Amino acid sequence: MTRHVLDIASLGADVLGEICSLAGRDPASLGAPLAGRGAALIFEKPSNRTRHSTEMAVVQLGGHPIYTRGEEVGLDVREPVEDVARVLAGYHAVLAARVFDHGTLVRMAAVSPVPVVNLLSDLAHPLQAVADVLTMRREFGSLRGRSVCWVGDYNNVARSLAEACALQGAALRFACPERHGADEGELGRLLALGAASVEQFRDPRLAASGSCAVHTDTWTSMGQEAEAAVRREEFAGFTVDEAVMAAALPDAVFMHCLPAHRGEEVVDAVIDGPASRVVPQAHDRLHSARAVLAWSLGVR
Ligand code: CP
Ligand code: NVA
Repeated sequence: MTRHVLDIASLGADVLGEICSLAGRDPASLGAPLAGRGAALIFEKPSNRTRHSTEMAVVQLGGHPIYTRGEEVGLDVREPVEDVARVLAGYHAVLAARVFDHGTLVRMAAVSPVPVVNLLSDLAHPLQAVADVLTMRREFGSLRGRSVCWVGDYNNVARSLAEACALQGAALRFACPERHGADEGELGRLLALGAASVEQFRDPRLAASGSCAVHTDTWTSMGQEAEAAVRREEFAGFTVDEAVMAAALPDAVFMHCLPAHRGEEVVDAVIDGPASRVVPQAHDRLHSARAVLAWSLGVR
């Protein structure tokens, strides 16, 4: 079966563990599975970390990345998504895309004989979640039974992180404003994936209590810019500040996928302070991308 990576939950706990092991290996030991082959990288939205880490991961695996902007490819504008995927699969060993609509990736995967990798959609950011796990494991070892806190928007990044933590038996503690949290069905889904517990609060300090890591992300994701002013009002009180970090465990770390909006979802003193792991977390994106690509190409 073609090894698509569209979200974390469908990988399952064993594959997530396998990917984390691949991430820890010397790139030279992975056998250059992309030697003489290409990787198509399509971006419908801007990127810094994802583009650079994925391109360099392709290089480390011996391959050649080709980046194209969404408007150049014209998914469903210039030609149907399915035609794009079928054609590119003849040139490349893997197709990877950052898209507005997760359904675009599902449609690509449905027709592509080579793996399709999600570089961020409205629903999921699996490469980010793998990096987040690598960073937290380096700090704490196993996440089983540990509490991980998310403050802010229950968005693409939150969902993938929650799935990854659930698969590893962590306890999840969310603090999200009304209308922007996880619904009951989602909380149940995370429990079914293996979370030790899933609790949702309105007070970020309560959610942070007892947590080993406090994560957050922008209040306004790419594509939601028209809602930015309303969102700033809705998310007031959901800033990760010193008081939130003080409520977490004494050795708790602060994490953020970046880009960050200092003064909104996080204050300078936290993101630039001693508990912040945002830079190593961003650097883990390279190891995450290399490992996910290697796994999708069948490296063992
Ligand atoms: N975290 C992340 O995906 O960053 P970019 O949008 O810069 O790729
Ligand atoms: N939630 C953010 C993540 C960016 C890496 C977005 O979708 O814009």
